[in-house]
Amino acid sequence: MITVSLTHCLLLCLVVAAAAAASSNITTDEQALLALKDHITYDPTNIFAHNWTSNTSVCTWIGITCDVNSHRVTALDISQFNLQGTIPPQLGNLSSLTTLNLSHNKLSGSVPSSIYTMHTLNFLDFTDNSSLFNNLSGAIPKEIGNLTRLKGIYLGDNKLHGEIPHEIANLRNLEDLELGINNLVSVLPAPIFNMSTLKVLILINNSLSGSLPSRIDLSLPTVEVLNLALNRFFGTIPSSITNASKLTVLELGGNTFSGFNPNTIGNLRNLEWLSVAYNYLKSPTSKLSFLSSLANCKKLRSLNLNGNPLDGFLPSSIGNLSMSLKTLYIDTLLKKWALLILN
Ligand SMILES: *[C@@H]1O[C@H](CO)[C@@H](O)[C@H](O)[C@H]1NC(C)=O
Ligand SMILES: *[C@@H]1O[C@H](CO)[C@@H](O)[C@H](O)[C@H]1NC(C)=O
Ligand SMILES: *[C@@H]1O[C@H](CO)[C@@H](O)[C@H](O)[C@H]1NC(C)=O
Ligand SMILES: *[C@@H]1O[C@H](CO)[C@@H](O)[C@H](O)[C@H]1NC(C)=O
Ligand SMILES: *[C@@H]1O[C@H](CO)[C@@H](O)[C@H](O)[C@H]1NC(C)=O
Ligand SMILES: *[C@@H]1O[C@H](CO)[C@@H](O)[C@H](O)[C@H]1NC(C)=O
Ligand SMILES: *[C@@H]1O[C@H](CO)[C@@H](O)[C@H](O)[C@H]1NC(C)=O
Ligand SMILES: *[C@@H]1O[C@H](CO)[C@@H](O)[C@H](O)[C@H]1NC(C)=O
Ligand SMILES: *[C@@H]1O[C@H](CO)[C@@H](O)[C@H](O)[C@H]1NC(C)=O
Ligand SMILES: *[C@@H]1O[C@H](CO)[C@@H](O)[C@H](O)[C@H]1NC(C)=O
Ligand SMILES: *[C@@H]1O[C@H](CO)[C@@H](O)[C@H](O)[C@H]1NC(C)=O
Ligand SMILES: *[C@@H]1O[C@H](CO)[C@@H](O)[C@H](O)[C@H]1NC(C)=O
Repeated sequence: MITVSLTHCLLLCLVVAAAAAASSNITTDEQALLALKDHITYDPTNIFAHNWTSNTSVCTWIGITCDVNSHRVTALDISQFNLQGTIPPQLGNLSSLTTLNLSHNKLSGSVPSSIYTMHTLNFLDFTDNSSLFNNLSGAIPKEIGNLTRLKGIYLGDNKLHGEIPHEIANLRNLEDLELGINNLVSVLPAPIFNMSTLKVLILINNSLSGSLPSRIDLSLPTVEVLNLALNRFFGTIPSSITNASKLTVLELGGNTFSGFNPNTIGNLRNLEWLSVAYNYLKSPTSKLSFLSSLANCKKLRSLNLNGNPLDGFLPSSIGNLSMSLKTLYIDTLLKKWALLILN
């Protein structure tokens, strides 16, 4: 009986889904976009008033890209228009959308759950930065794990709260996950540290915790940017991180990490930015010799060791970085070694 009704439901669901897909067309897209227009309360450049008018084709509207064959809206990019207002649930009816970019506006309110059911999305960008302020709230629902075509999720600098759903790790095409400067809490789900496609993981300034996997090099083999700063991550920074040879940015400052002494940092030949500031890192010897190999990181521009109970001599080989290094923060170290570097 159960098997039969499950099969029945499955068939029914497929039929319903197919009917919905067939009945949606460019008119559906237009209605969804007009609903968005209705929810914009402030439009300083008048794009909606003057350009998004129903006497011209949706496909000619500013910020809209259509597919020539299917004649459906595939991209909506109205970033940087300084818009105020909210996102209506109808936007989820753009059933052929691959890029949704509402970044750098002043949108507020919660992100409607329908957005997280848009299966065709490759890129979801609601980022803001501190000069303008998108102010979107709500939790990230587990349904986001169904958007299997997603390559980039950019939700930074908003007011999202709650936990990061572990279903995000189901996104087998995801390369870029940027959730920094929100109010996300709790332990970061371990599977997120195990995404072989991930190149950029930016979680700066939330209230996330947990420890790093001991073989982070095998868990995140393609990671280029790892920014976990200003959270509550703890434990040792695994020395295997020095095997993650694609790293250009390693920013772990402002957590409670308590150990990081690999003498193989120099393996990170592409490293441009290294910060382990404001943690509880100690050096086993007064020579800080674990830093010697940094001389091999010829692209290193910024090194920040501030705010750790490190004490001792910076190895003279650091002086070899004088061509690339632009900023060096070593508040607890002997200042004369800074002079050595300046030479
Ligand atoms: C879209 O579909 C509706 C019915 O599902 C139909 O009435 C309408 O004419 C269609 N529009 C276009 C542009 O094909
Ligand atoms: C809307 O803007 C686009 C792009 O600038 C332009 O091609 C189009 O003619 C405009 N439509 C109207 C009705 O102003
Ligand atoms: C289209 O509609 C807008 C506002 O509804 C109006 O200002 C404009 O003149 C119309 N354009 C044409 C070509 O009818
Ligand atoms: C569009 O979305 C809304 C809310 O998500 C829904 O109620 C409505 O039926 C949809 N309309 C069409 C034409 O698909
Ligand atoms: C969204 O727009 C911003 C600014 O216009 C741009 O920098 C960013 O790359 C866009 N995001 C995506 C995913 O295309
Ligand atoms: C954020 O949005 C809320 C309404 O959702 C509003 O009350 C608040 O002032 C906004 N904050 C900023 C900084 O825009
Ligand atoms: C924020 O965005 C504005 C406009 O896009 C840009 O000029 C500014 O440099 C950005 N600021 C940061 C900190 O990214
Ligand atoms: C989406 O994900 C949820 C929870 O992860 C799951 O229960 C649901 O069946 C999925 N829906 C679709 C349409 O795949
Ligand atoms: C990491 O992912 C692989 C498959 O991609 C799986 O076999 C392994 O158990 C996962 N490890 C953890 C710690 O989740
Ligand atoms: C962290 O984010 C909060 C807002 O969530 C902001 O007030 C604070 O200035 C940020 N801190 C830093 C150091 O960026
Ligand atoms: C780097 O990777 C190799 C090969 O998997 C492994 O033998 C070695 O122990 C790793 N280094 C560290 C510091 O974990
Ligand atoms: C640093 O430079 C000196 C010469 O100034 C050279 O002998 C030494 O091998 C260099 N060390 C590294 C690790 O590159």
